[in-house]
Order: sequence, then structure tokens, then C-alpha cells
Amino acid sequence: MPARIAPSLPILLLFLTLGHSYRILGLFPHPAKSHVNVFYPLMKGLALKGHDVTFVSHYKFNDNIPTLKEMQIVNPGADLVNAIDMSQLLGNRLQMYLNNVLLAYWAVNTCHDGLSTPVFQELLNSDESYDLVIMEFFNTDCYAPFAYKFKAHLIGLSSCTIMHWTNERFANIYNPSYIPITHMDYSDRMNFFERVENTALGVLHEILYNYILRFNDERIARMYFKEDFPSLTKIVHNASVFLVNTHFSLNLPKPAVPAVIDIGGIHIGNVKKVPQVGISQF
Ligand SMILES: *[C@@H]1O[C@H](CO)[C@@H](O)[C@H](O)[C@H]1NC(C)=O
Repeated sequence: MPARIAPSLPILLLFLTLGHSYRILGLFPHPAKSHVNVFYPLMKGLALKGHDVTFVSHYKFNDNIPTLKEMQIVNPGADLVNAIDMSQLLGNRLQMYLNNVLLAYWAVNTCHDGLSTPVFQELLNSDESYDLVIMEFFNTDCYAPFAYKFKAHLIGLSSCTIMHWTNERFANIYNPSYIPITHMDYSDRMNFFERVENTALGVLHEILYNYILRFNDERIARMYFKEDFPSLTKIVHNASVFLVNTHFSLNLPKPAVPAVIDIGGIHIGNVKKVPQVGISQF
């Protein structure tokens, strides 16, 4: 190397690190649009920061960002838009109990309907590499082996408050005496019977997830992934961070380990000017 260039080499190397970006794969196969509306702004933000982002969901946003590749899971009929009457999720006690059975039923559909589509077949056969896999931690983990396959760090996202069974993988504090389960309409001041119900329901949800849903997830994932992978429990327990779309001012303060971070409001974009039109036009 000519002696004249050598002194400037450290400065040149500095410029090399300035262009550093990560390859990020966002997997959001749950068909509800309301969930994807929370995840897309994060993925878009990462792409705008210069990261190389691949966003997989049932929807297409067409923002024309060069670093954002959208892969649409084409599966007509599988998308859930305006499919659920939120007012029915609360109310009747039996319905509250049975919500999880509905989630378990959807989980099996989400796994089969997603993994069998061309988009996921492409990813299953892909030898690309990713630094980070971001996926929803909701009612299924059958997509988690992608993090293992791509040897990537795994980050969990939730569009609602933490599903009871997700606490365990982050060793997040959960005390049923004053932390109501997501499906119930309790406050943090429960009477004795409500605490008993809250505790019993928590145990039931954990059994449902860790045995019934986990059994289905594991079985379906092993049908589609060609390579072997550790148990899904091992993979999801390896997740680094969990970003949750909530805020303590909405859902009562509760303790959280440092890996569990509230990101409520992330989907709210920049302020837009109110259109200057007269009221007579309405
Ligand atoms: C855990 O994550 C690291 C990277 O964060 C990865 O190298 C390792 O293979 C993962 N292990 C499992 C069991 O997923």
C-alpha cells in the first residue's frame, strides 16, 4: 500500500461502518388487519432508517420504499377485516372463557393457510440470511422455526396486551391477585372470588397453550420445515425483546422485566393538516 494512503485508512474504515444496516424479516401471518396495522409502521420505520426489511403479511401497503420488500400471503378469504364485534369479546362470561378456544381454532388455520402458500414455500426453501426475525407473539408459534433456520435474533411483537402464556418466555412477572388476565374485564382491585377466578383461568389458559396449542404448532411446523429444529418452546424462550402495543395509562400499571417494552401509539403517524374545507361541503 502506498505510504501516502496509509494515514487516511482509519478514516476510510470509519465511512465503511456508516453504511451498516441489518437484514430484517417481519412475519405477520395472522390474518387480522387490525394487528397488521400496528406492525407495519414499525417495519416501515426500520426500512426508512435504511435497514433491509422484508415484510410478510396478508396485506399490501405499497409505500414504494426501496429498502422495504412486501411479500403478500395471497390467500383470498383468509383475511379478517371487520370480522369480530369487539363488544362481544366482553359481556357474556361464557364467551370470555371460550375466546381462547376460538384463538386455538384460528391458530391451526393460520399455520396451515400460511405455510402452504407460495410466499412461505419460497421462504421455507430460501437460503437467504437475516440478522433479525420479528414476529407476532399471539396465538401461535408455528412460524418461530424461521428464526432458527435463518440463525437470526428473534423479537416478539404484540398488538394487544400480553397474552397470559407469553409472560413465561420472558420470565415476566405475573401475579393473578392484581393483574387481570387479558380476556377479563377486571381492574386491579378484585374481590376474593374474582381473584380465584382470575387465577384459575390463568392456569387453564396456560394448560391450553402449553399443551393443546403447542402440540398443534409443533406438529404443523414439523410438517412444513425441511430441516430439524429444537422444540418451539426452546426457540421462543430465546427471544430477545418483546414489544407490546399498550401503555400504562390505559391498562393499569404493572411490573415488567426490561425485555418487555410498551410501545403503545407506535402506529400513529405524523400529524397531518386538517383539510381547509367549509362545513357546507359535508
Ligand atoms: C438463540 O439465539 C441465538 C441468536 O440470538 C442463536 O444463535 C441460537 O441458535 C438460538 N437458539 C435457539 C435454540 O433458537
